[in-house]
Amino acid sequence: ININEFRSNLVTWFYQNQRELPWRENKDPYRVWVSEIMLQQTRVDTVIPYYLNFMRQFPELENLAEASEDEILKAWEGLGYYSRVRNLQTAVREVVSHYNGVVPDTREEISNLKGVGPYTAGAILSIAYDKAEPAVDGNVMRVLSRVLVIDEDIAKVKTRKTFERELYELIDPEDPSAFNQGLMELGALVCTPTSPGCLLCPVQSHCGAYHQGLQNQLPVKTKK
Ligand code: ADE
Repeated sequence: ININEFRSNLVTWFYQNQRELPWRENKDPYRVWVSEIMLQQTRVDTVIPYYLNFMRQFPELENLAEASEDEILKAWEGLGYYSRVRNLQTAVREVVSHYNGVVPDTREEISNLKGVGPYTAGAILSIAYDKAEPAVDGNVMRVLSRVLVIDEDIAKVKTRKTFERELYELIDPEDPSAFNQGLMELGALVCTPTSPGCLLCPVQSHCGAYHQGLQNQLPVKTKK
């Protein structure tokens, strides 16, 4: 594939087709962070009202750091996986005490915060700090498994690293935020699990699976 063309097709498509979502209003690292934690196990439509409410209640990182357990659990009520918000509060308190309230901007530091795994680290670094870091979740693995015709089992933990290695080569150093969000958005809107919309896809001409008619065979995913 032609990397420059792939990048520019994806990034241009993202700017023209992205959904208006509340966490895309600005690039405050704390706001991006909260959105990515909420989106981990919960769908976009469900997250939106919770996110708006959470940001009204805890507009700044310090507000969340100082909140009571009751307040944070109440704000999360209905989203489930409550360890997410407990870990998030532990982590923002660490940011206040250790980083003077500024979310760190290296993968090493940010990954040491409670609840921040490789995906969340990459999402914050790329979206909020414009760093060329991969953010590999299920959507991104589906898109890339098709584009690059990678048949590794995406249910396996080590497979994420394969995609991260590929992405360090592929990611657009000029606009890592739009590139990563473009992959996420493409996975959500076009390169869907079943009946992918290849005829509408901005990277169709770069997609190995499309050329070989394998889009319905990829990704490979065994039951865990
Ligand atoms: N899923 C995970 N992160 C997302 C984001 N930033 N925008 C939309 N969907 C997402």
